[in-house]
Amino acid sequence: MFTFDIDGGGDSAALYRDLGQALDALTADEPDAIANMANAAALLWEYLPDLNWAGFYRVDGARPDELVLGPFQGKAACIRIPFGKGVCGAAAATGTTQRVDDVHAFPGHIACDAASAAELVVPIMVDGRLIGVLDLDSPRAGRFDAADQAGCEALMAMLGPRIAG
Ligand code: SME
Repeated sequence: MFTFDIDGGGDSAALYRDLGQALDALTADEPDAIANMANAAALLWEYLPDLNWAGFYRVDGARPDELVLGPFQGKAACIRIPFGKGVCGAAAATGTTQRVDDVHAFPGHIACDAASAAELVVPIMVDGRLIGVLDLDSPRAGRFDAADQAGCEALMAMLGPRIAG
């Protein structure tokens, strides 16, 4: 069992700093990409409030123009997402984080869970190559702010080399 001292006391910077330390401790010595993605999804799911989905879509070398579902927490989700489709596909196609306050206003949004209202998708780059995306969904519109984006981008910068396989 792992126990973490993660609180933040309402301070996003402190919360993401603590999450970074926990994620570092969980993944630093483990070479298995699936294990590291699984623990990252569990950590974010447990400590970030108001989520209804947290997990990864990966780039599979055999089909390099689409994302395939990776480790996650939440409801069963769509398995493959072509680059350019939906919020995850937009992040993959552009290589830029997509922070969406209201997914219903996002063209092509893929509704895996009808409860989702806001979404944050962070592309994960390693040596200039896209290896996947982190996808967080929330039932609360406007749930993700700039601090969440910066925090999750920093977490993925650390995690990327540890899930590159
Ligand atoms: N809503 C996403 C699809 C993935 S699920 O939310 C888990 C999208 O539009 O890319």
